[in-house]
Amino acid sequence: MRQHKLALCALHYLEWVPEQVERTIHRYRMFTQQDRLLVAVSGGKDSLSLWDILNRLGYTADGLYISLGIDEGIQYSQNSLFFAQSFAETRHLHLHVVDIKKQYGETIPELAGRTHRGHYKPCSVCGITKRHVMNRVTREHGYSVLVTGHNLDDEAAILFGNTMNWISKYLLHQAPVLEANKPGLVRKTKPLCRMYEREMAAYALLAQIDYIQDECPFAQGSTSIYHKEVLNKMETDRPGTKLNFYLSFLQAKQNGLFSPLVDDKAAQVHACPQCGQPTSAPGLCVFCRMVAGSGNPISLHEDEP
Ligand code: AMP
Ligand code: FES
Ligand code: ZN
Repeated sequence: MRQHKLALCALHYLEWVPEQVERTIHRYRMFTQQDRLLVAVSGGKDSLSLWDILNRLGYTADGLYISLGIDEGIQYSQNSLFFAQSFAETRHLHLHVVDIKKQYGETIPELAGRTHRGHYKPCSVCGITKRHVMNRVTREHGYSVLVTGHNLDDEAAILFGNTMNWISKYLLHQAPVLEANKPGLVRKTKPLCRMYEREMAAYALLAQIDYIQDECPFAQGSTSIYHKEVLNKMETDRPGTKLNFYLSFLQAKQNGLFSPLVDDKAAQVHACPQCGQPTSAPGLCVFCRMVAGSGNPISLHEDEP
């Protein structure tokens, strides 16, 4: 790990990663051993490794897999479900599975095709759906905290994109912990936010965690992947660039750099009359409108705080 000027053997590496994650959990006061955690697992290396680490550290954590129905070609959703289920079964852990088609009538590609008449990639529909389902399941089953596997590369790429476009309200909300500061909203945490993607791949390999290696087919050519590549180039030349970029941002935020920014929309939040989750859209939240499906194209401006 050039950024830390540190090299470890397999045995010590398997101790070092959970120690780092535990430090992050404490530093940002994410949760304690008394919390009941729900880990959103995609079947990929980050979220399955995170679930493994939380268990090693003695936390009580169940899993949630959302089956999106992205199964043309490489059968992405079916394969990732297989890895999530095998992981849970071999370790005797409880996994909730929500099948979007069974629950809401359509797969993500179908939903995206209908709502947007096929003009858009499904990623925004998918993001709205995942956020909605994660929030709902966490609330319905009484978990105190939702945990996701976003790693440093994810966070740095999101930050890079938001900075390139100076999207101030996204900058305002990007953090290792998103508080449950609106009625109906659950607390969300990202314990891997300081771990490099490479570090998590090495952890999964050494901890013998089987995971889906394919990326979602819709992610190909996305801006976030491009931003990751750019950041990786910088990281190769100057190790530590990504970590410094992200941590300096958090520090600047703590120092009040973003305090003058006010989120107008957050003030106008109300509970969606259908699902009860907070929304700033007039009437139904964007997820409920999407699923209700008038067939008309709807704009997908973010409406969830
Ligand atoms: P992504 O948005 O694909 O970069 O994934 C970020 C995080 O969201 C993952 O580390 C998981 O914690 C969670 N996640 C992504 N896809 C799913 C899914 N299909 N089911 C449950 N959680 C997911
Ligand atoms: Fe949602 Fe790819 S995972 S569109
Ligand atoms: Zn709703």
